[in-house]
Amino acid sequence: MASPLPASIPATHAAIAVTVPGTPLHLTTLPTVPPSTNEALIHVTHTASTPLNLHRAVGGLMLDNAGGTKPFILGSSYGGTVVALGPSTTTTLSVGDKVFGTVQDGAEKEAGFQEYVTVPTWRVSKLPAGMTLEEGVTVPTNLVTAVHTVVADLGLELPWPVPAGGEWVPRQRDEVVLVWGAASSVGQYVLQVLRHWGYRHVLAVAGGKHHESLRGLGARECFDYRGENVVGEILGYLDKVEVEGGGRSRVPYIVDCIGSLEGTLRPLSKIAEKGSKVAVMLPVINVHAGQDREPELEMDVNKALPGQWKEGVELRGVRTHFYYKNEFLKNHLQPEIIPALLAQGVVQPNKQRVVEGKTMLERAQKALDLLRDQAVSGEKLVWRLADEEI
Ligand SMILES: NC(=O)c1ccc[n+]([C@@H]2O[C@H](COP(=O)([O-])OP(=O)(O)OC[C@H]3O[C@@H](n4cnc5c(N)ncnc54)[C@H](OP(=O)(O)O)[C@@H]3O)[C@@H](O)[C@H]2O)c1
Repeated sequence: MASPLPASIPATHAAIAVTVPGTPLHLTTLPTVPPSTNEALIHVTHTASTPLNLHRAVGGLMLDNAGGTKPFILGSSYGGTVVALGPSTTTTLSVGDKVFGTVQDGAEKEAGFQEYVTVPTWRVSKLPAGMTLEEGVTVPTNLVTAVHTVVADLGLELPWPVPAGGEWVPRQRDEVVLVWGAASSVGQYVLQVLRHWGYRHVLAVAGGKHHESLRGLGARECFDYRGENVVGEILGYLDKVEVEGGGRSRVPYIVDCIGSLEGTLRPLSKIAEKGSKVAVMLPVINVHAGQDREPELEMDVNKALPGQWKEGVELRGVRTHFYYKNEFLKNHLQPEIIPALLAQGVVQPNKQRVVEGKTMLERAQKALDLLRDQAVSGEKLVWRLADEEI
């Protein structure tokens, strides 16, 4: 059973869609869905663009839209105000709360690029006091990605709540975690998660201008991926790492936050060794989209550089979409852990670049073009949906 729509809420609203990959984004109209039990109806005022929008809208990645005949609604994050709760909903949320969350794009009720979303309450985080929605929308998609990657793909523990009094120390506290693409949105959250849970031998690979801020997020050493000999420098560092127990990898944990065949996977294939787990953000980008260039994307990580990896390297393709299969993370990550990490100042939101434009469609398209042109550097693209507050 669903609650009726409040009288002030329109029966339909605007959403941003792609129908045929590679063509401009367009507006479509969707019904506003009354919330059922354990759902919230949210008036969305802010969202953030992510490379996934580009992979969908230009690359056609898993665009499940009946062969280009149906609009696919974009957007994996939303920020706004709760306007109704489903009947008998068990939640600490109230109407009027400012909230944000990560959702499944393509799912008509919940995709983020629309004026109203109807979402399960496990996909809602309350905005901590003193934080803006512009800051909030930079967080959920890639903080969930960071936690999911560390737990599901690297197999490292992140107990919650973190046992007080410093009693809990991760077994792998001093083992190397190499984060390639650490200045990306994903990378910044991976660093902050590892720091909070006490993993203290984290190496960051990122453009030189980001090194100082990445040290502030927990990186012990930084390497510049634009340097001619970056692989040699990292291998030189690993030569000095002392490993307890014979046969262990010197670099047992690697996160590739970019997934570029030539830009990240090729150099990592020279660094990973027997016993290294390499968690790669999917899709693998064989060719990046350009103004006159079609992207080439691959969802099977094992097709990346076959025969080029040392024996005993484990490649893992990250699929955050499935994080909810971990019941604990489903029930606690967005409603409880993310707001707490932000309120405690343990995690800082990404820097925001606000995308301006006369209409929401113009803002969505501008953000997509910036992603295509690889013009995003150490920041998150944020923009407004509805212009009026209710
Ligand atoms: N499968 C999943 O579950 C999942 C989840 C989340 C994200 N992803 C994917 O992960 C990728 C990253 O997402 P994002 O939102 O974090 O991206 P982003 O913040 O937009 O990435 C831009 C950053 O990447 C850096 N970069 C680009 N090429 C690099 C290279 N070769 N080496 C090191 N750094 C490089 C840039 O560095 P400069 O500042 O030096 O230009 C820039 O700071 C996307 O493809 C996204 O779709 C996948």
